[in-house]
Amino acid sequence: MPDDVVTMDKIVSLCKRRGIIFPASEIYGGIANTYDYGHYGVLLKRNVVDAWWQAMIGDRDDIVALDSAIIQHPRTWEASGHLAGFTDPLVDCRTCGQRFRADHLDAEHDVRCPRKPSVLPGQGPDCNLTEAREFNLMFETTIGPVQEAGSTVYLRPETAQGIFLDFKTVLGFARRKPPFGIAQVGKSFRNEITPGNFIFRTLEFEQMEMEYFVPPDDAHRWYLHWLEARMDWYERLGIRGDHLRLRAHEQDELSHYSSATSDVEYLYPIGWQELEGIANRGNFDLTQHAQHSGEKLEYFDQQSGERYVPHVIEPAAGVGRATLALLCDAYDEDQIGGEARTVLKLHPQMAPVKVAVLPLVRKDGQPELAHEVRNLLRRRMQTEYDEGGSIGRRYRRQDEIGTPWCVTIDHQSLEDRTVTVRDRDTLTQDRVAVDELPDVLAGKLAAPWTSPKLAAEA
Ligand code: GAP
Repeated sequence: MPDDVVTMDKIVSLCKRRGIIFPASEIYGGIANTYDYGHYGVLLKRNVVDAWWQAMIGDRDDIVALDSAIIQHPRTWEASGHLAGFTDPLVDCRTCGQRFRADHLDAEHDVRCPRKPSVLPGQGPDCNLTEAREFNLMFETTIGPVQEAGSTVYLRPETAQGIFLDFKTVLGFARRKPPFGIAQVGKSFRNEITPGNFIFRTLEFEQMEMEYFVPPDDAHRWYLHWLEARMDWYERLGIRGDHLRLRAHEQDELSHYSSATSDVEYLYPIGWQELEGIANRGNFDLTQHAQHSGEKLEYFDQQSGERYVPHVIEPAAGVGRATLALLCDAYDEDQIGGEARTVLKLHPQMAPVKVAVLPLVRKDGQPELAHEVRNLLRRRMQTEYDEGGSIGRRYRRQDEIGTPWCVTIDHQSLEDRTVTVRDRDTLTQDRVAVDELPDVLAGKLAAPWTSPKLAAEA
């Protein structure tokens, strides 16, 4: 595979420059591993989430949607095992006051002591590390006005548990029987201390999780089904197949609840890393919550008279990680007419803006026709109007945010009501009649697509 020009620094700087994603609380100097999404970031992220919902509930009949609370009954986390076991081993340095993951002190993780010389923590002349202590990753808060009198609750570290708590309720109204799934998208929170690599690891992040409830004997078959379905999904987003892989967890890597887990990994500029985990959770969660709550969480098949606790297959994805993979996969640099260009070669369906409408000059009736064209398109797809700066600069601005088509209104447009459609990747310019434009662009948007970076690699 030839070297990609993309680096994490280039992604961070493009995202900041174009207001896609930038550090949160910047006027106060920022806050660890926390980012805000600006206009184009919101649009891009929304496309990822919409594509996930489409795959879960648009393309299938066996999954229903849920939006459960972030703060649940604290016993939830006792039953799920998070209170006792959702921990990282940490060490503190008595000299510099920094905290490190005890299992990340090796060269592979390349975490550095903040003092000079730049060495691995524990290896500098003044380093003085404590013994490792287990540190729970859940954020705690209190319900009630007085902290001491209130009860301790937790911000959810995964959306999955809300689904298990609602299993019985949903089963009651969804008129489904196993195999069926419950899907949700929402924020989760983890008190991560590891340096984040931009939005790869953040304190708050959105998850897209689906719990698929199946008869116990069918669990492995459905596990294999979801491995394939989820890999296909990432390829459908336009991510290059040679930058995606499935990696099965070794026995000693498996979570306490899982009998088999595989990660979908993406080759980020920082190496192969997890995009999504797909786990066979067995009947662990329903059994635990049944024991802790006293509620029966099982399925009774009236036809066969069979009663069982369904097993669960869980594809659990991160919105930020998928967004970051899209950005890294699409990032490219080339030359146009001797000038350097930065371009995001995103799948058109993922691009924040599908089409930009640009009058060549700000006079002679061109802006008026451009507004008319914009209004014609805006109901069909995300559209932007731009009349500021030279046409070359405006194309460059759109290239940087991955807009697949720019529609230019020129002198001829006023004579024959045709416009040019410029393609971000091929740079071809075709003349199209204004009246046909919405259908022409909708057709392009729906057409099959593969990354032009793949063709360049071949
Ligand atoms: N319910 C299972 C579960 O939460 P996980 O592997 O811990 O499994 C699922 O998380 C996905 O959530 C990950 O594959 C990743 O995409 C995303 N994720 C987890 N922790 C994250 C963090 N701190 N920042 C950003 N994304 C995160």
